[in-house]
Amino acid sequence: MAGTTPRHTDAEGVDGGVGLTALLVAASRAVETHRHDSLAQDPYAEHFVRAAPACAHWPVRIEEVPDGDDNPLWGRFARYFGLRTRVLDDFVLQSAGAGARQVVLLGAGLDTRAFRLDLPSDCVVYEIDRASVLAFKEQVLTGLSAAPEVKRVPVPVDLREDWADALTAVGFDPAAPSVWLAEGLLFYLPGPAETHLVDTVDRLTAAGSALAFEAKLEKDFLAYRDSPIYTATHRLIGIDLLHLFDKGPRPDSAGALTAKGWSTSMHTPFEFTREHGRGPLPEPNDALEGNRWVFARKLAP
Ligand SMILES: C[S@@+](CC[C@H](N)C(=O)[O-])C[C@H]1O[C@@H](n2cnc3c(N)ncnc32)[C@H](O)[C@@H]1O
Repeated sequence: MAGTTPRHTDAEGVDGGVGLTALLVAASRAVETHRHDSLAQDPYAEHFVRAAPACAHWPVRIEEVPDGDDNPLWGRFARYFGLRTRVLDDFVLQSAGAGARQVVLLGAGLDTRAFRLDLPSDCVVYEIDRASVLAFKEQVLTGLSAAPEVKRVPVPVDLREDWADALTAVGFDPAAPSVWLAEGLLFYLPGPAETHLVDTVDRLTAAGSALAFEAKLEKDFLAYRDSPIYTATHRLIGIDLLHLFDKGPRPDSAGALTAKGWSTSMHTPFEFTREHGRGPLPEPNDALEGNRWVFARKLAP
């Protein structure tokens, strides 16, 4: 990880490889936004989808999907992303309410929380992702004349590199409380990069800071290769998630944070489905079975 010369190229752009997953989440948020019982509202999401040639044929409303909610991708999986968005919106707002004025989005993709959340006006949102993804995002938002509600700082850097300096160089203050999200990110990173990320978050955070991340606990992703979510995502939009996930051993990041003095709790998404009265529920051969949302808070030493 250390070293000043980037070792990873950014050749794929937003509409190839893992960048395309950011568009998948944006399309899902667009579908969620237009639902009569939406869990989260993101008016920008459909504009990203419409701006990228790779997803010109993707739906942005459930009514555009012939089998509607029975569609494993645009029904159940998109609703999963809608629920995740809502739960992490609540986490950010709650952490800001408790005093965090710096929000760091790791693998920010097409996240528009700086534009759509009612954050305290002195908040700063740092968006870390690869340069090509952030450039596409900028182009679409500029085209919409969108103005963030709070200060927003894009940080183009690869999270497999040594990214801490890039963040502090643009004003992030490790001595002040912060809230961090790694939403739909860690399973794309090699295990050592995840360990480095958690160590770096710990190093850059003051007491009172918070981190939420998504993990997948299954030992073998391929055991779910025939699950409706994976097969529909591959067949309908050509994204082979199993190909994109890192297949190496995963670190126990929740355990590592606990050992560093954070308080952590781990939840299934289904708990939030029950809390909100909508969202995905367990099903057989379920690619979501191992998904966990982890909420960590850094305690005073
Ligand atoms: C599934 S998307 C999630 C985006 C966003 N967090 C959301 O939930 O809408 C994964 C994002 O992680 C980013 N990502 C994956 N590997 C990365 C890396 N090594 N460095 C920086 N960003 C990375 C991708 O470019 C993509 O935008």
